[in-house]
Amino acid sequence: MLTSKGRVTNRSDIHGIGTKILGIRHLCNLHKMYDSLSYNTKLLFHPGFLGFEEIRPSWFLFQLGLILSTFVECKNVLKRVCPQLVFVSILATDLRNQIVGFAFIKLEKRLPNGRFLGELGIAVTDEHQGKGVGKKLMSRLISHAVKENVEEINLLTPSFNFKAIGLYKKYGFVECGVAKNRDCWRGLVFECITMSLHLDGKGGEQCEWK
Ligand SMILES: CC(C)(COP(=O)(O)OP(=O)(O)OC[C@H]1O[C@@H](n2cnc3c(N)ncnc32)[C@H](O)[C@@H]1OP(=O)(O)O)[C@@H](O)C(=O)NCCC(=O)NCCS
Repeated sequence: MLTSKGRVTNRSDIHGIGTKILGIRHLCNLHKMYDSLSYNTKLLFHPGFLGFEEIRPSWFLFQLGLILSTFVECKNVLKRVCPQLVFVSILATDLRNQIVGFAFIKLEKRLPNGRFLGELGIAVTDEHQGKGVGKKLMSRLISHAVKENVEEINLLTPSFNFKAIGLYKKYGFVECGVAKNRDCWRGLVFECITMSLHLDGKGGEQCEWK
């Protein structure tokens, strides 16, 4: 199907794709899903803590954060003592329960008003891109973030990543500036833009069609 924007898509494939909060039982498959992504997708999305292919010392620290964030009580304690280790994470899965997308907000700090500031990342498997999975993930992630008391979401993306930038704008993110030389992967350095979304605490979906 050719959309009014001239993009090829198959919206029928979106049926059966659901979203869920990341649980500890999903972690291994999440890493495998990341390893299976194409070079081009990893070039745009390389958070450094996903996959089994490139394990650095910080990888282990983030695994601890991912694991502890799946237990509500642990997450609530961490939010008070070490919010930098807390992940608010959503998976997209198909009818066979295979992971086809992942979106997260890694908390960065607790603000004086007790709410949180976090950084967002998102990726959809290559075969499911352009079918609406990214929008499903963003809707669920933003409404979940509101429940987790997140006030501001920031992100960094290569300035040539028009697809992701289009998605973020759809959800109310605004461009804040250019961040030169802040993102590198396998020796490549990207010019990036920073974007930000302020959540008013009333819900997430109202941002969707801005
Ligand atoms: C960016 C990404 C998460 C979007 O998810 P997706 O499932 O492909 O996107 P969707 O089908 O839900 O489309 C959502 C919106 O993205 C934008 N978009 C999608 N495909 C696009 C394209 N080819 N060109 C321009 N904008 C596009 C549109 O705004 C679209 O909404 P619309 O169809 O209502 O116009 C996904 O493509 C991906 O994983 N890309 C590689 C990794 C990446 O770039 N991650 C972000 C790093 S910061």
